[in-house]
Amino acid sequence: MSPVSRVPLILLALLGTSASALDWALEGEWKGWKEVHAKQYLKEEEAFRRAVWEKNLRKIEQHNQEGNSFQLAMNHLGDLTDEEFNEMLSSFRSDLADQPGKKVALFQESASLETPKEVDWRTKGYVTPVKNQGHCGSCWAFSATGALEGLRFNRTGKLIPLSEQNLIDCSWKLGNQGCHGGYITRAFEYVRENGGINSETSYPYLEKDGSTCSYNSQDRAANCTSVVVVPVGNEVALEQAVATIGPVSVAVDSRSFYFHFYKSGVFDSSSCTQLVSHAMLAVGYGTLQDGGNNTAYWILKNSWSEKWGEQGYMRLVKGTGNHCGIANQASYPAL
Ligand SMILES: *[C@@H]1O[C@H](CO)[C@@H](O)[C@H](O)[C@H]1NC(C)=O
Ligand SMILES: *[C@@H]1O[C@H](CO)[C@@H](O)[C@H](O)[C@H]1NC(C)=O
Ligand SMILES: *[C@@H]1O[C@H](CO)[C@@H](O)[C@H](O)[C@H]1NC(C)=O
Repeated sequence: MSPVSRVPLILLALLGTSASALDWALEGEWKGWKEVHAKQYLKEEEAFRRAVWEKNLRKIEQHNQEGNSFQLAMNHLGDLTDEEFNEMLSSFRSDLADQPGKKVALFQESASLETPKEVDWRTKGYVTPVKNQGHCGSCWAFSATGALEGLRFNRTGKLIPLSEQNLIDCSWKLGNQGCHGGYITRAFEYVRENGGINSETSYPYLEKDGSTCSYNSQDRAANCTSVVVVPVGNEVALEQAVATIGPVSVAVDSRSFYFHFYKSGVFDSSSCTQLVSHAMLAVGYGTLQDGGNNTAYWILKNSWSEKWGEQGYMRLVKGTGNHCGIANQASYPAL
């Protein structure tokens, strides 16, 4: 699906993008990028997409020359404006965030627990390959399946990708809105109330909503009996949860340009706020030793394919005041 169709032609005309404003020295690079990412445009729209891509490319190059803690790179999403990006891909609903109540338990922080210096659940077999949500605001479903996959692995010793489409199609009555956003905790609650979730293979991803729910209890691949939330904004509690439970679902502010084009390093950006917009999966944490300076980081699994970030992952600075709101909406399922 091309994002092009989302921009009305009238808008393109209003934006007044003319071919003459483009940098023709980038012609080869543009062609190469289109080919690598299999992009196709209508003739009228190509100049607009090219202009957006050029603007993004220049901003990426500028950032990389400034000596920051993290680097950016052009990626498969390079023809989107920040606004389109956010409309499409930052779809975690935090406006009605779940508070701990009778349906949700609160993680109990321990005053005495000594957590390991480094944790990486990928090396313990808890984490499935990086997935791709495509042009559908279903990050919440990918974050939830990631935590459920880890829990299932812990209980059964077997790692099986679970179905986001199952959550997209079937959890509307809990307040989730398919490709238009949803809540991680309500995805877990759906699995609990439903008594299970199907696997990715038995209920494949369609990258769109509108299908009727076709959950099949014969193909139940995992369960969840309770939902636990981490105290809001508490990175110490989040570290304890990640260290003792396994992968934990989190949400962050993903709305900046720098987040969209993150490539490598420890993400630490003054553009990040506490207002979370995008669900991810915390699969561990560690410390970068760079000369005399130590930088603690979270390891976050994203659902924007392996083309984004460090093979689909981000390292986000940890313990510096809840950067990007990392601990504002953390939760995990339990059996
Ligand atoms: C599951 O978690 C428990 C404690 O949380 C741990 O003792 C056990 O080794 C884990 N199982 C696997 C297969 O990792
Ligand atoms: C899920 O729970 C049901 C009922 O408690 C149980 O019969 C079933 O074995 C469980 N399935 C999995 C995959 O854990
Ligand atoms: C450590 O960090 C400080 C402040 O950011 C910086 O000035 C210094 O060059 C760093 N030292 C090393 C060895 O990287």
